Formats: sequence, C-alpha cells, structure tokens
Amino acid sequence: MAFQLERLRRKMGLFPSSSAKNLDGRPGDNQGRKEPERLELPYNIAQQAKPSWVARAEVCAGLIARLADERDAIKIADFGCGDRKLEGLLKAKQVNFQYTGFDIFPQDHSVRRFDLDRDSLDGSFDVASLLGVLEYVGDIERALKEVSARSRYVVLTYLAADLVGMSRQEQIAKGWPNLIALSALRAILARLGLTTEAEVFVDRGRQIVLLCRSKGLAPRNPSAD
Ligand SMILES: C[S@@+](CC[C@H](N)C(=O)[O-])C[C@H]1O[C@@H](n2cnc3c(N)ncnc32)[C@H](O)[C@@H]1O
Repeated sequence: MAFQLERLRRKMGLFPSSSAKNLDGRPGDNQGRKEPERLELPYNIAQQAKPSWVARAEVCAGLIARLADERDAIKIADFGCGDRKLEGLLKAKQVNFQYTGFDIFPQDHSVRRFDLDRDSLDGSFDVASLLGVLEYVGDIERALKEVSARSRYVVLTYLAADLVGMSRQEQIAKGWPNLIALSALRAILARLGLTTEAEVFVDRGRQIVLLCRSKGLAPRNPSAD
C-alpha cells in the first residue's frame, strides 16, 4: 500500500512543500542544500488505513449485507471509493455482490473516474454508497440527487458540522469547507424523498452512518424478480 501511494504521489506530482521553515516561522538555514521533497495526497487519502475508517466501512458493510440475498448479486456503486475497502469487507462477509468503484482520484485501474460535483451516472444500482466523501463535495444535494435517482438504497456517512466539534479554521485545514449540520443533511434527504431505514453513530459520535431507501426505484424484492 505504501508503495502504491508513493507511486500515486509521483504520478500526480502532488504539492511539493514550500521552503522549510524553523518552528518560529523564520526561513530555514539550509540554503544551498537540496530539501527532501514532502508531498501530500488530497482528500486525506494518506490516512485511509486508519482504524476509524475501517470501522466506519465495517458498519456500512453490515448494513449492505442486510439487503443482500443469496440468489441475485446485489449491485453496488461505491462513490469516493478510495482504496475500495468496502469491497474487501463485503467479500469477507461473503455477501453476493457486484461492485463498481467510482472516484475523482482513482487509485486503481478498476475504479471509474467520477466527480460527484459534475458527472452524471449511467445504469442503475441496488446500493449507492458514499463513505467519507460528502464532506469534500460542494453541492451535497446535487450529488445525492444524481446517485439516488439511479439506486434503490443509499448508504452514506457524514461528519456533520454540529457533530464534529471543530472550528471553521480546523475544518478548512482538513479540506472540509462546506460541512453542514445534521439537521440540514436530514432536510436534503427529505427533499429528495430518501427515507432513513437505519442510522448509527460512529467515530465517537462524530459521524453518522445512514441507510436510506430511495423513492425512485422499487425496493429490492427477490421473489418478484
Ligand atoms: C476520505 S476518502 C474516503 C475513501 C473511502 N470511501 C473510505 O471510506 O475509505 C474520500 C474519497 O473521496 C474521493 N473524492 C473526493 N471528492 C470527490 C468528488 N467530488 N467526487 C468523487 N470522489 C471524490 C477522494 O478521492 C477519496 O478517495
């Protein structure tokens, strides 16, 4: 994984650091010497192996597993899929599923490049999952409208502004300038006709995981297929 990330950094030519500074902010005194390059990955991807991310995905995999049945593979579209940890967790649970990963910054050739702020979706899915991605999206309502119109269920996680307990500056530093409150997220879901079927708080109460049923497509009913 470390190698894969390093390759990605190099490929993207990501964010070489500005000149080194002393701790008091004065320029460093290493003039003439070549500084080691410090490169950062976007979207906090460098932290993607963190136990809290895995635990969050584990909760989502459990909710999706409830929707699966043995006869027909459940079709999952995972938006902002990152390292596809959801896929691995569903396999470990022996869920019968067909997985497509979408991401603005694919980490693997199997992942389709997709920007939740701009792109439109083809096809239809049983479940659209959005784990840790809505925090980076400019227009959450637009993104949820797009994916829910083509999915029977939506599983999402969200680090709501009122749950996270961070200052605005800290949010900006994390790359989450548009965090909204949980009540605002619930209002969006209601406007889009998404009905909440399950909700779980994770990450010491900082994030909510929601399983919602979409109004657009009929609920999955294996006996009617
Ligand atoms: C915090 S990571 C979460 C990754 C993964 N879902 C997980 O839980 O481990 C956010 C992911 O969303 C992707 N992302 C950020 N903005 C996006 C956008 N506008 N459209 C699609 N993907 C986006 C990033 O590339 C990154 O892989």
